[in-house]
Amino acid sequence: MPACPGTGPQSSPSAPALRLAASDGDSEPAFRANPDRPLDRIPRPVTVLDQQSFEAGTANIARIYDALLGGKDNYEADRKAAADVIRVRPQVVAGARANRAFLARVVRFLAADCGIRQFLDIGVGLPAPDNTHEVAQQVDPGCRVTYVDNDPVVLTHARALLTCAAPGSCDHVDADARDTSRILAGAARTLDLAQPVAMLLLAILHFVPDADDPGAVVAALAGWLAPGSFVAISHLTSDFAPEQVAAVVTAYNAQADTAVTARTHAEVSGLFGGLPLVAPGVVPVTEWRPSVAGLPHRHTADLYAGLARVPQGRW
Ligand SMILES: C[S@@+](CC[C@H](N)C(=O)[O-])C[C@H]1O[C@@H](n2cnc3c(N)ncnc32)[C@H](O)[C@@H]1O
Repeated sequence: MPACPGTGPQSSPSAPALRLAASDGDSEPAFRANPDRPLDRIPRPVTVLDQQSFEAGTANIARIYDALLGGKDNYEADRKAAADVIRVRPQVVAGARANRAFLARVVRFLAADCGIRQFLDIGVGLPAPDNTHEVAQQVDPGCRVTYVDNDPVVLTHARALLTCAAPGSCDHVDADARDTSRILAGAARTLDLAQPVAMLLLAILHFVPDADDPGAVVAALAGWLAPGSFVAISHLTSDFAPEQVAAVVTAYNAQADTAVTARTHAEVSGLFGGLPLVAPGVVPVTEWRPSVAGLPHRHTADLYAGLARVPQGRW
């Protein structure tokens, strides 16, 4: 039995692929904005580096994460925000590292055990050890990766540093996770969306507020994925330490340029929209297929992680 479910021969869903082709360039967009739906009122991200992009005095979510990981792409405001959340919940450092370790484990699992060769990494963040294409291309140098972010500074770093040579391919898309049509049009430059893709939404959906319905964001994107594709999510939770994580959220949101929302196990599970989960399901991030069983203790990271598969016959 294969280690990964759904790795048999895949059918090619012609309908989404054809509709996507029609969404490129100046032609008819596949995703029509409806002003009555809150998600459709969200403006498209700017594609130039504006003044706010370089606002070193305001803590930025990608740079705070970089500071927590011990990176160098951060400023004093980011380090202060990181220090403030570490003060109330020291485990956030282990949590950031555990999230990166999950990224490496799930990408390796998808490439080595599930046969996935295409990755759509939404909310890529600043470059850090074990970026998606590096892990995937250790399994197969031909893996193709599209990186997406709505932060122009993150995109600038990605275009400079998250690159690769043939036979693999890396591309970068400046888009908000809520802008499905823009992401799909950009991804289609590099990925064959008629074939299975692993969509990574790691440590990003907690930046989508309830008002913007993160479950609908996932569903809108996943609805375009071919059968045999996968959706990976990691997400902040306060389940393990409600008071401390509430204090983290308060300190973070007082300083960061984008607010964070912690969610419960049921809420994070709901983000998969009923797609069948790969074992062990939605679990503390350190417990998702750990390379060393039993380590570390679950409360070292306030994050849940899970992986779901897009089944056959969704269309
Ligand atoms: C904490 S970092 C996570 C980086 C990486 N995915 C990881 O797990 O290591 C979150 C990233 O998501 C991006 N992001 C947040 N909200 C976003 C949105 N609505 N659309 C696109 N990117 C977003 C931020 O700019 C940042 O680069």
